[in-house]
Amino acid sequence: MKTIVYDRYGSPDVLRLEELAKPNPTEDRILVKVVAAATNAADWHYMRGSPAFARLAFGLTKPKTPRLGLDFAGVVEAIGPDVTAFKPGDAVFGAGVLGAFSEYHLAREKGTVHKPENVSFEDAAAVPTAGLTALQGLRDAANLQAGQRVLINGASGGVGTFAVQIAKCLGAEVTGVCSSSKVELTRKLGADHVFDYTKEDFTRSGQQYDLIFDGAANYRMADYARVLKGAGQYVAFGFSTVGHMVGQMVVAAGLRSATSSQQFGMMPTTSVNQDDLRTLGEMLEKGQIKPLIDRRYPLEETAAAIRYLEEGHARGKVMINVAGAD
Ligand SMILES: NC(=O)c1ccc[n+]([C@@H]2O[C@H](COP(=O)([O-])OP(=O)(O)OC[C@H]3O[C@@H](n4cnc5c(N)ncnc54)[C@H](OP(=O)(O)O)[C@@H]3O)[C@@H](O)[C@H]2O)c1
Repeated sequence: MKTIVYDRYGSPDVLRLEELAKPNPTEDRILVKVVAAATNAADWHYMRGSPAFARLAFGLTKPKTPRLGLDFAGVVEAIGPDVTAFKPGDAVFGAGVLGAFSEYHLAREKGTVHKPENVSFEDAAAVPTAGLTALQGLRDAANLQAGQRVLINGASGGVGTFAVQIAKCLGAEVTGVCSSSKVELTRKLGADHVFDYTKEDFTRSGQQYDLIFDGAANYRMADYARVLKGAGQYVAFGFSTVGHMVGQMVVAAGLRSATSSQQFGMMPTTSVNQDDLRTLGEMLEKGQIKPLIDRRYPLEETAAAIRYLEEGHARGKVMINVAGAD
């Protein structure tokens, strides 16, 4: 099988396509013939071993797992002896194990669910990591309620495009923040109001929100506090630099949470679980969410896909089309 591999940290140049033997699934593993896979910011973090402290988990001097790609959709080829819910031929999607940028992927049963029939492989593959982050951030970390006002900073990216749609499903009034060329698409996704950050600074708008859901994290906590309601919440799901994360998210956010009725924090790492993947599958099936696909690359051009994603201005999802996705 053709697989993207890398054995040292670095730029997308470290990625290469290799021919490897197709593995046999053991225990709770499922061998999936991949149709489509999605890139995520996590891929370039793994690839670069960045931020440096993450190497404690990724591998100190070189990647522990020399494979990339978390989100996949495809067809079950074979199952391990402990797998109970899937059989060869099932159409599935999921995430949670590195190695999806490959013709075959060894997924885990607990990170895999059946693909709804009316959903394409590409749309299913676009959802897992970004959709789970948006769902768990808004529903669980922030407990967003119908009628509340939420501002999504970074509304046009992989996570943001799902966050806008999921916040609308939860009944919130949604304001998105993006650059000029993405204002229209953010409106089309369902945002009630949009700030073009190249022209307006939402922290000086005079508007107030119950929740700021932040993927760009490019302001000081004092700026966010100004546009949060009295008991409002700030939840970051991304950060701009490690310095900003430590200075603002940890120190300033901690101090503000301790001394005011507003709450500031980062959402915990996304949990890959079947219940939430099924919830997202149902939202796809009912048309409540629709992935916005920015670009598609063939497997052998995965490095170009990651290079584009790393520029930080994707419009929704950047896909790897492995086997002629539908
Ligand atoms: N907590 C978790 O488990 C988790 C999971 C997934 C992702 N993340 C993190 O979340 C962040 C976003 O991920 P993603 O997948 O959405 O990234 P992405 O697809 O690369 O999108 C980045 C988005 O950020 C926007 N952006 C850049 N500068 C901005 C600014 N100054 N103001 C507002 N928006 C700005 C860009 O929009 P414009 O082109 O309009 O500038 C772009 O749409 C990353 O830091 C990622 O590591 C965290």
